[in-house]
Amino acid sequence: MTSYKELGLVNTKELFKKAFEGKYAIPAYNFNNMEQIQAIIQACVETKSPVILQVSSGARKYANKNILKNMAKGAVEYAKELGYAIPIVLHLDHGDSFDLCKDCIETGFSSVMIDGSHLSYDENVALTRKVVDFAHSQKDYVTVEGELGVLAGVEDDVSSEHSHYTQPGEVIDFVSKTKVDSLAISIGTSHGRAKFKPEQCTRDANGILIPPPLRFDILEEIEKVLKDFPIVLHGSSSVPIEYVHMIEKYGGKLTDSVGIPEDQLRRASKSAVCKINIDSDGRLAMTALIRKVLVEKPDEFDPRKILGPARDELKKLYMHKNQNVLGSAGQA
Ligand code: G3H
Ligand code: 13P
Ligand code: ZN
Repeated sequence: MTSYKELGLVNTKELFKKAFEGKYAIPAYNFNNMEQIQAIIQACVETKSPVILQVSSGARKYANKNILKNMAKGAVEYAKELGYAIPIVLHLDHGDSFDLCKDCIETGFSSVMIDGSHLSYDENVALTRKVVDFAHSQKDYVTVEGELGVLAGVEDDVSSEHSHYTQPGEVIDFVSKTKVDSLAISIGTSHGRAKFKPEQCTRDANGILIPPPLRFDILEEIEKVLKDFPIVLHGSSSVPIEYVHMIEKYGGKLTDSVGIPEDQLRRASKSAVCKINIDSDGRLAMTALIRKVLVEKPDEFDPRKILGPARDELKKLYMHKNQNVLGSAGQA
């Protein structure tokens, strides 16, 4: 049993309180490997931003739970070494069972998500409450994120053809019955790099897909009924077209890519939304730079020379998000 405090991590409680009051959102960046975690920490230290390091169950299987735990500990030490001890959360993304949440809590996670959004309402309440009871009764309080409403796209092992927006009428009942610390909602975001079908979008003069706007009216209704409560947005990558073009220039094919425009994320960050999840944009940045190096330097076979430029690009991307989109820069 390892408590997150032994690793130097924090839970989301205080961070969300400050983010709520300060009208910004904490970045929740997914990671699976060393280059990603290095880039996240470098970017967040340089911009003095708090950060949530997110691990999906797939990432945990890929990287190994002991290695991950020590990477998070290493991240805390790395931030100090870089000169600024930013608050760091280690969070389970889309936990799909009580056992997985429990195992993560026992191996140093400071926060977990239990995603019962694919279950019936009553089953979601029961499962979420079970995780909350366990997490909150730990010696060091572990925070829990629940989800109401279903995002379109693929949520780890949970896949959904269509999104079901969160019903504002359900949120108070859900939060009071489960006692979750934050709530992920569905207002039109979705996972992955193709968030909308082309027929849901319009096109600009260059043929670039313009997505339909997020349902801020639903968010506002939720804010009215759920006073001062931290909201989470999943599926919030912007899918920068420059990366899509770079990937395609160097041999990739990413048809019909479209993300959430930055101005909408900027608006969301100023609302009750305290945590914004970003994974796909990091994948795009890495893939773009890796493809570029491999095509431009066919004789290169040192993985450091292939992954190094990708790491640098990731750092730039995360700094940009902290400074220009989420407003988390300078808040650590
Ligand atoms: O929401 C899902 C995250 O992007 C994690 O994806 O299960 O492929 O690691 P993954
Ligand atoms: P994106 O696929 O938009 O990056 O969303 C990631 C996410 O929600 C992780 O939980
Ligand atoms: Zn998600």
